[in-house]
Amino acid sequence: MALQFPLAAVLLLLSAASTVKTAAAANALPGCSDKCGDLTVPYPFGMEERCYLGDRFFINCSQGPNLDQPPTPYLTTGEIIVTNISIDVGELRILHYRGRDCYNEEGNQTHRNSPELWMSPPYTISDTKNKFYAVGCDTYAIMRGFRGEEEFITGCMSICNSIDSVDKNSCSGAGCCQANIPGGLHNLSVKLSTYNNHSDPCHEAQNRKDFACKANSKCSNRPIKGSVGYLCERLPGYEGNPYHPDGCTGDDYL
Ligand SMILES: *[C@@H]1O[C@H](CO)[C@@H](O)[C@H](O)[C@H]1NC(C)=O
Ligand SMILES: *[C@@H]1O[C@H](CO)[C@@H](O)[C@H](O)[C@H]1NC(C)=O
Ligand SMILES: *[C@@H]1O[C@H](CO)[C@@H](O)[C@H](O)[C@H]1NC(C)=O
Ligand SMILES: *[C@@H]1O[C@H](CO)[C@@H](O)[C@H](O)[C@H]1NC(C)=O
Ligand SMILES: *[C@@H]1O[C@H](CO)[C@@H](O)[C@H](O)[C@H]1NC(C)=O
Repeated sequence: MALQFPLAAVLLLLSAASTVKTAAAANALPGCSDKCGDLTVPYPFGMEERCYLGDRFFINCSQGPNLDQPPTPYLTTGEIIVTNISIDVGELRILHYRGRDCYNEEGNQTHRNSPELWMSPPYTISDTKNKFYAVGCDTYAIMRGFRGEEEFITGCMSICNSIDSVDKNSCSGAGCCQANIPGGLHNLSVKLSTYNNHSDPCHEAQNRKDFACKANSKCSNRPIKGSVGYLCERLPGYEGNPYHPDGCTGDDYL
C-alpha cells in the first residue's frame, strides 16, 4: 500500500536544503543513521531522538529476536512496516496485514480480522497506487475512509459456486472483485462479511467430481445433526436410491 504525505512545510525545508547540495533529499541529519535494514530513511523521517521532524516521522527500527535477520522499520509507534520512502514523490510504501474472514465446513467462523489504518493527515491513501480487492465465493468487502470529516464507503462482492472457480492469475471477476479507492482518504477501515457463512454445501458440492446426488435427485442443505455435508433427495414422482450410480427412476419405467 502507498501513502502520500504532501506537507508544505516538509517540502519547503527540503528545497532549502537542496540549494546547498542536490543530493540532500536522500540524507539524514548529521549524526543520524539513514538506514534501517534495506530501507533508506531520509529526513524528515528519522530513527533517533532529534533526528526526525515530529512524532509522525519517527521510524521505529526494531531488531527482532533473530539477529541474522535485518531490523524492521515501523512507522511511528504502530505495526505498519515501511518498505520505501520517496521524498521526491512524497510517498511512503507500507505493508499492512490482510483482512480475513474464514469458515469451516460447518459454516462456523474460524478466523476474522478487520484491518484498520488510523492514519490522519499529512498521510493519505494514494488513489493511483492502491486498489481494493476481495477474494472469495461468498464474500462482500467494505472499505470505509474519511476525507477531512466526510465519510466514504465503497467495496465489492464476489459470489461463485466453488472455490475452485477462483481465478488465481488475475482479478477477473471469477472469485475476485475490485474497487477503486477515492483520493485523499485517511483513517481507513475494512470489513469483510458473507451472505451465507460459506455454508451452502450443495452449491459447492455439485461442481465436484464426487458429487453424490445421482440422476433424478436433488441436493438438500437440510442440516444433518452433528454432521457435515448435504443430503440427496428423490425428485417428486421418482423412486429408488438417490445415491445409487443409476440414480432414481420414475414410476413409468417400473
Ligand atoms: C518499536 O517496535 C517494537 C516491536 O514492535 C516495540 O516492542 C517497541 O515498543 C517499539 N518502540 C517504540 C518507541 O514504539
Ligand atoms: C522507492 O519509490 C520510488 C518512487 O516510487 C522509486 O523510484 C524507487 O525505485 C523505490 N525504491 C525501491 C528500493 O523500491
Ligand atoms: C458450529 O456452530 C454450531 C451452532 O452455533 C455449534 O453447535 C457447533 O458446536 C459449532 N461447531 C464447531 C466445530 O465449532
Ligand atoms: C482519524 O484518526 C485519528 C487518529 O486515530 C483520530 O484522531 C481522528 O479523529 C480520526 N478522524 C476521523 C474523521 O475519524
Ligand atoms: C452465520 O453465522 C453466524 C454466527 O456463527 C450466525 O449468527 C448466522 O445466523 C449465520 N448466518 C447464516 C446465513 O447461516
